[in-house]
Amino acid sequence: MRNTIVAGNWKMNASKDAVKSLVNGILSGMGDVSAEVLVCAPFPYLSQVETLISGSSLMLGAQNLNVNVSGAFTGEVSAEMIKDFGAKHVIVGHSERRSLYGETSEIVAKKTKAAIDSGLTPLLCIGESLDQRESGNTEAVISEQLTTVVRLTGIEAFKNIIIAYEPVWAIGTGMTATPEQAQAVHMFIRNLLASSNQDIAEKTPILYGGSMNAGNALELISCPDIDGGLIGGAALKAEDFLQICKAG
Ligand code: PGA
Repeated sequence: MRNTIVAGNWKMNASKDAVKSLVNGILSGMGDVSAEVLVCAPFPYLSQVETLISGSSLMLGAQNLNVNVSGAFTGEVSAEMIKDFGAKHVIVGHSERRSLYGETSEIVAKKTKAAIDSGLTPLLCIGESLDQRESGNTEAVISEQLTTVVRLTGIEAFKNIIIAYEPVWAIGTGMTATPEQAQAVHMFIRNLLASSNQDIAEKTPILYGGSMNAGNALELISCPDIDGGLIGGAALKAEDFLQICKAG
């Protein structure tokens, strides 16, 4: 049995006031939530969120990390720094980082390994673009993105990895994948893991991300291979985010 996980990805949206009211709003409704819930905050707000969530079941994550432990890497943030603020998770390989910041599958694999080596749980994002889907390459793209990580980390590392399937065409567009489309890719991902290790495949959480909202969350999370969601836009309003958490 896999736990349901709902993760908020705030992206580059925050201010001290907004963080305070968002986190307090989420905390006030967490009583009836059985899913594991985390919020991935921009780096400057990790400390503030750490304080706000103290003593609650809400968990904290970051949105990126550098592969190095420390050193002359101006502007970068390491896994140890993220952990220093009580964060347990970090997003790696988000499509915005792949497309806007040139992160290749090799870089994503190194970041995944750096997170695991430091004891952080990576939320490894994979997903195809609209062009790739329409040209029938969804499975090839997913396979390349996933196997590049498996090759570097080994399949055993997936005991500590959460996968997020995020079709690029569904992110921030309001064009959610249908439960059938999402379930088909989630099953493909699980089968791919199973070809290396059946037990790990059955235990690895695979979240769906891409315009998941209060209205479609229940139907998506009800699919057998969808274990929760990675939420962007709808994670910025406590009420919407809580409704998704409750669906989980
Ligand atoms: P969205 O973003 O929910 O706004 O589509 C999801 C994500 O980018 O993780």
